[in-house]
Amino acid sequence: MRVILISIFILCISSYSDTYKLLVVFPIPGKSHSILGNAFVRHLLNAGHEVTYITPIPMKDVNSKLRQINVESNRNYFAAEEVLDIQKLMRKEVDMKDMPTVFTMMFNIANATIHHENVQKVIHNPAEKFDAVIAEWMYSELYSGFSAVFNCPLIFFLSVSPHNMALSLIDQIPNPAYTADHVKSNSIPPFTFWTRVQELLTLFDWKIYRWWVNDRNIKSYDEAFKSAVTKRGRTLPPLDEIKYNASLIFGNSHISTADGVPLPRNLVEIGGYHISSNVEALPKDLKKILDEAKHGFIFFSMGSMLQSSKMPEEIKTGLIKIFSQLKQTVIWKFEVSLPDKPKNIFIIDWAPQQSILAHPNCVLFITHGGLLSTTEALHYKVPIIGIPMFADQFININRAVAKGIAKRVDLNYNTPTNLKLAIEEILENSSYRDRVNELSFVYHDRVISPGAEITRWVDHVIKTKGAPHLRSPALLVPWYQKLYLDLVFLIIIVVSVFYISIKRLIMKNRRDVTLSKKRS
Ligand SMILES: *[C@@H]1O[C@H](CO)[C@@H](O)[C@H](O)[C@H]1NC(C)=O
Repeated sequence: MRVILISIFILCISSYSDTYKLLVVFPIPGKSHSILGNAFVRHLLNAGHEVTYITPIPMKDVNSKLRQINVESNRNYFAAEEVLDIQKLMRKEVDMKDMPTVFTMMFNIANATIHHENVQKVIHNPAEKFDAVIAEWMYSELYSGFSAVFNCPLIFFLSVSPHNMALSLIDQIPNPAYTADHVKSNSIPPFTFWTRVQELLTLFDWKIYRWWVNDRNIKSYDEAFKSAVTKRGRTLPPLDEIKYNASLIFGNSHISTADGVPLPRNLVEIGGYHISSNVEALPKDLKKILDEAKHGFIFFSMGSMLQSSKMPEEIKTGLIKIFSQLKQTVIWKFEVSLPDKPKNIFIIDWAPQQSILAHPNCVLFITHGGLLSTTEALHYKVPIIGIPMFADQFININRAVAKGIAKRVDLNYNTPTNLKLAIEEILENSSYRDRVNELSFVYHDRVISPGAEITRWVDHVIKTKGAPHLRSPALLVPWYQKLYLDLVFLIIIVVSVFYISIKRLIMKNRRDVTLSKKRS
């Protein structure tokens, strides 16, 4: 038995023992994007690969196989603290659903990344070689140029759940009749008639803005990559061709946090891969507070990019008042100290979020509903109250509500009252806890861990030279053929011709009859 086990072990190790040189591009200067990028890189490093990591926020890890290319200046195009200001979001001064803003911001970041001198140095050095490029897709395909330079497979990474734009790159746009848009939808399927119409219109909206940036994209792509590819003796394929050449998309999602829409075979869901299997120890004083919370504790955090302290005074005071009436301890991620706070409220300016959620006394998580937070809540079986603020947070919370593990409370001057009701409902009604336990089973019930999926699929793509067998034939079929409009056209022609001929025949007959009558 032992011999068999050992040989299986050796076999497992040896089948993953190929080490590759990988270029990993996570260029968005936001905390949650860098959590995702860093975790991705760590999985690759642990598997023994050599990683070159293009990042605006370099990791502190020291590893001889890690080389970081600092594109810190990307922060010039996305000042998270300024853009994601709670009051501005409340007053709708910043609208992260406004597409010209989002597309312009994401174009600027992508454009700056590929033109950055540190990046240009790497692509213009013919000695640099990579086995695969993995790039975060955030409304831009400009990074596909790297795969042209290094003549290697391209893999995209998607930080949100799969949506029409990403899916259209490897397969086709999913049917809007039952697919909620990732940021613009306020419902989940099944839809009413009007929602269905809205979802269809949303698709056109996205299309229009993608056309709108396309010229800028092509220009930027040519400028950044042409000379590097020419230097290597090849010609640069057009952007509109290479952007459809990704071998695979890794999605930071899982069926437990999504609607059950069908996905193409080369969309690999790895939601939860950023959660490490060994929970980091809590700081001593915080651990003591959590251990001693005999009625349990509520964890309240608006995430790494939003600051609760920026909420309007009136709401803050209201929140403190309702929290002080609870018998539970409240751990609040708040950036400044609160004078005269009630004794069941504890302020922390930085939160080891996973370790807090993992604590057995955690009874409720009040969150902005970022996908990392909702995934972590599911991982550690904690029910949620969501206060969504921007991007995919609305749909994440709507889905969690529909799955019975959450309540949604919007941020406005009634928030304290509504939050109080929601807290009572979740703590008194055991169905939320039961559902979160069931759904957490779905989340954990996977054949291999999401981190192992990463190394497995990177290996698969490289060994199969871009995994052409996974490619969807839908990519090769124009839209009018998918909708059978050519058939409809043909039927219209045939029916018309038939109708006209019959009509002519009848007319002719009548004429013949009247003629013959006249003659007689
Ligand atoms: C598309 O990807 C495949 C596999 O990675 C590669 O062999 C091919 O050259 C790529 N095509 C273009 C136009 O880049």
